[in-house]
Amino acid sequence: MRNHTRARHLSQRAAPFTTTTKATSQAERARRLRFTFQPVLTCLAGSFADVPQDLLKEIQALERLFTIDTAKLKQITDRFQAELDKGLSVEGGSIPMNPTWVMSFPTGYETGTYLALDMGGTNLRVCQITLTEQKSEFDIIQSKYRMPEELKTGEADELWEYIADCLMQFLETHHGDTSKLEKLPLGFTFSYPATQNYVDAGILQRWTKGFDIAGVEGHNVVPMFEAALAARGVPIKLAALINDTTGTLIASAYTDTKMKIGCIFGTGCNAAYMEDCGSIPKLAHLNLPPDTPMAINCEWGAFDNEHQVLLRTPYDITIDKDSPRPGQQAFEKMIAGLYLGEIFRLVMVDLHDNHETHIFANQDISKLRKAYSLDSSFLSAIEEDPYENLSETFELFQNKLDITPSLPELELIRRTAELIGTRAARLSACGVAAISRKKGYNTCHVGADGSVFNKYPNFKARGALALREILDWPEKNDPKEDDPIEILAAEDGSGVGAALIAALTLQRVKDGNMHGILHPENYQ
Ligand code: BGC
Repeated sequence: MRNHTRARHLSQRAAPFTTTTKATSQAERARRLRFTFQPVLTCLAGSFADVPQDLLKEIQALERLFTIDTAKLKQITDRFQAELDKGLSVEGGSIPMNPTWVMSFPTGYETGTYLALDMGGTNLRVCQITLTEQKSEFDIIQSKYRMPEELKTGEADELWEYIADCLMQFLETHHGDTSKLEKLPLGFTFSYPATQNYVDAGILQRWTKGFDIAGVEGHNVVPMFEAALAARGVPIKLAALINDTTGTLIASAYTDTKMKIGCIFGTGCNAAYMEDCGSIPKLAHLNLPPDTPMAINCEWGAFDNEHQVLLRTPYDITIDKDSPRPGQQAFEKMIAGLYLGEIFRLVMVDLHDNHETHIFANQDISKLRKAYSLDSSFLSAIEEDPYENLSETFELFQNKLDITPSLPELELIRRTAELIGTRAARLSACGVAAISRKKGYNTCHVGADGSVFNKYPNFKARGALALREILDWPEKNDPKEDDPIEILAAEDGSGVGAALIAALTLQRVKDGNMHGILHPENYQ
């Protein structure tokens, strides 16, 4: 039963918290930072000379736990590549390798006006994107709405109602009277693993990233979403359900034809790439032309759910055990932004409680005991502390946790953050290397987005170094030289990418390619 009072309450909160912005692809492109190989910073704070022996031993033990050497990276990559193949097979494997029915790259000449909805972990973003006549150019207006925390573990109806309210508000703001509006095509970025037998449908395989809403897993989310739109008379027709990685791939390829892989390193982590239908045994029964492209949403967060190759620390095991979906997303739980701060927190609490050193001895660590109280920006701040005496980290601990760390403890804190951040970047590189090798890409660009990629210090450089180690690239003669495979900041996947996918889908239906279309009537 729908709770009207609550739904009304939620709808009142569907107020945009950022004003509408307008940007062009050029402005977006200016944002793109090419990164070149830089020496990776290890232990750049003070030396460990002043660190007492017992703490030093703890640091060394953590280094043994979290360090992944080149040989191990290569072993993980080999297994990763085999698992990608397995995911495409009829029997399937841990990595879902979901076909998405995105069946071409954009040409840059797509045109038209589309809506895009991004149901992210923190925000809900609604955009209107106009792909202009000029090649690879677009205009975008967008509003962001806060995603109330309680919605993530609440009732399914409330989620869809809230989303429909946000969309309606967006249309009212930008189009006035919606009753006269013709239905606008929408690309809905739903960044969770979904089985897509059609581009306009998606059966949620499982919630990830801390979401836990009953009654959605195992069901097609599109009718639930459409019912909420219909109940409010929101003039929108869904053109495509999209994963953020597929959006990232397509948006990046719109402006850079070398882009072959789209990645998200944010609250969650994942990648998409373009496969040929002939190399997807699980689609063989559909008799699609073998050289037709099909974007695959890998859902690589599920890599090694069976724990065959990743070396999990006791902290990783605790994270998994206490998560809403134990046994799922093994790879993601070692890499993604949602978990990095929590891994760090668990290390700190363990060193306080259980080890002879008892860090933060005789201090009240009750704030530190709160699960998920530290996010990855906390680790970023520690790694970014420029001072030899780690004074910013000291203040961070005092202000946020009411803990006063000693200088040796600060050294341990810094090293722990580096170890966790470095492990995440190096593991991420295994996924990129595995897809590149599988596809035989010796050179290409990889478009990446997400808070960890964009904001975590050294993540890019550490990832690039790991890629070099895995793929045995020779030393560079000139440090400015590009790497053969470069991971670059992506274009806006869940905005422009979603609009492009809507455009590509409408166009292919017009051209008579009806594969993977459930509701042809929506594409008239
Ligand atoms: C989801 C993916 C998504 C990734 C990045 C993961 O938790 O399963 O669908 O692409 O997060 O947002």
